[in-house]
Parts: sequence; C-alpha cells; structure tokens
Amino acid sequence: MTGSNEQMGKAEKASDPAAIAEATRRLQAGELVVVPTETVYGLAADATNADAVASIYRTKGRPDFNPLIVHVAGLEQARRLADFNPLALEIAKAFWPGPLTLVLLKTADCPVAPAVTAGLETIAVRCPSHHVMQHVLRESGLFLAAPSANRSGRISPTRPAHVATGLGPDAPMILDGGPCQQGVESTIVAVRDDGYAILRFGPVTEQDLVAVTAKAPIAGGPGKIEAPGQLASHYAPSKPLRLDAEVAGPDEYLIGFGECAGDFNLSETADLAEAAAHLFEALHLADADQRSSIAVARIPATGIGAAINDRLRRAATPG
Ligand code: TXA
Ligand code: MG
Repeated sequence: MTGSNEQMGKAEKASDPAAIAEATRRLQAGELVVVPTETVYGLAADATNADAVASIYRTKGRPDFNPLIVHVAGLEQARRLADFNPLALEIAKAFWPGPLTLVLLKTADCPVAPAVTAGLETIAVRCPSHHVMQHVLRESGLFLAAPSANRSGRISPTRPAHVATGLGPDAPMILDGGPCQQGVESTIVAVRDDGYAILRFGPVTEQDLVAVTAKAPIAGGPGKIEAPGQLASHYAPSKPLRLDAEVAGPDEYLIGFGECAGDFNLSETADLAEAAAHLFEALHLADADQRSSIAVARIPATGIGAAINDRLRRAATPG
C-alpha cells in the first residue's frame, strides 16, 4: 500500500450507524467531519461554535469574507435561523429536502457564530436530502456549517477519494456516502420582499423555480449581487482549460459529451443530469493526467446545463 492509500484508508469510514455516531460525537465536540450530500461532499462543523467555524476557514484556506451555508434537518430548524416570507416558504416547501439554498434575512436571535455569515445580515440555509447527512443532522441536533470539502478555489469533491487527495493530511474523518448523485453545488436563491434572484446556478433550474412560483427571477443573477463566493476563477484545475472543443489538441486531455467521446465522456447519451453528476470527477481525472492541458466539449446551456457551463467558465478562468 502506498503512503497516500494508507492515508485515505484512515480517513474513510463506511456510513454504518457506528460511523454516524462517531461523526456526531466529533461534531458535538467542535471537530470537523467531511459529510456526503446529494450535491458535493461538505466540510462540516457546528455552526454555533466559533472555533469550529474558524477551523473550516483555516482548513480550506478560504477568505473570511466568503460566508458559509448552514445545513438544517428541516424547515422547522431553518426558521430558527432565518425569516421566511410567503415566497421563501413556498420555495422551501417545493424543493426541500434537496439541492437548493435560500439566502434570507437572519432572525433576531440567530444562534450561528458571526464568522458563518461573514458580517452579512443575511444567512444561507439549506436542507439536504442525502440520507447520511440527514441522519447526522437529526442525530446531532446541530446546525452544520459546511462549504464544499476542497481547498478554496479548487475542484469540488464528489467522492471521498477527491477529499482525501485535495485536503491531504488536513482531511478530517470522512463519512463515505458514495458518489454524489447531483454532482454540482446547490442552486442559491436570494428571496426578498416578493421577488427572488438566482445567485448560483445548480440542480434546481430557473424553469423549476418559475414553475413553482409563477414568477420570473428578478434582475441581478449569478455573479452580480451579494454572492461573495461567486468569484470569476473557481473550481480550478492546476492547468489551462479550453471550452467548446471539438477535438483534442496536442497534449490535451479531452472531456467529451455525447458524440464527442474524448478521454472521458460526461454522458454518451448527451444526458445533462448525467453530465453534471460526472463533471467534477472528470475534472479531477483530467487534472491528475500527465497531459499538460484540458479541453472540454460544448455542453448545451439548457436546464442543469446552465450550472455545468457556469462551473466550466470559472474553471477556465486563470486564478
Ligand atoms: O451544494 C452545496 O451548496 C454545497 C454542499 C456541501 O451543501 N456547499 C457549497 O458551499 O457549495 P460553498 O461554501 O462551496 O458555497 C457557498 C456559496 C458561496 O458562494 C458563498 O459566497 C455563498 O454560498 N453564500 C453563503 N452565504 C451567503 C449569503 N448570506 N449571501 C450570499 N451568498 C452567500
Ligand atoms: Mg465551494
């Protein structure tokens, strides 16, 4: 066994009841634990514990102006943290538990540590559907602050091995919940008064939101307003990435889609949900490959394709 395999073996734990109990104990003691969600793996800590929250920022190397998402077991718990107006309630009821984060005004007695919200008067809350994460939330009774479990600016993890490689010796206990089903981070929606804005594209699409609310999103959109973490360069591999490729150039690793097979095909049948689920896995493989750069086939921007193209554009932007 190589050194890095040994390290991974130590970090990973199967998600049996004993592992969940151990994770719960650690979280209650203020330690970090890597948890599976339906989108990506998260680096979790008790959101009410300022020291625990500080170690999230330290471990990720994350700038402290970039606030964290707080994960809750259900709507009832979320209402202790944030004020829900009728539109926010309608959206939460339609999409929770699931890959949607709501940015709302904090309650007057919101118990989370100030660093979680980085000084904003709003808070990002999400109720995830992954059964292991739900189990941890219910068993611990905690509000869990959890950014994606990668170093700041790098590729998000959709498998335990990505976390072990990305965080190396700094990886805490990893709860293994298998590969993430959605594969891209949650859609972030800010609700205020009677309108909503999409701050980050994700698995819940604009069409899904319009179908539920019977309203179009208000102006702003990703990158424009109040999403401090939506930096132009993000999800970045360690080498150049070229978009809308048809064939691989010299020394390029080609990530394919549909009929453009490439070295790794995101979806042979050109299915966008399947492509989203495989996106970060493909970027991790391409990054580890010996070739010096990466090319990616054109991906349609419809539905969850908007989230895929958003992540690819940021991955292609030099940091
Ligand atoms: O799917 C997900 O959302 C994953 C899993 C682990 O739940 N988490 C995740 O966290 O993607 P992170 O930290 O990688 O991204 C959180 C984003 C950042 O862009 C941050 O700026 C934004 O949420 N955010 C957090 N609080 C905010 C707030 N009050 N207002 C606006 N944006 C906020
Ligand atoms: Mg992230």
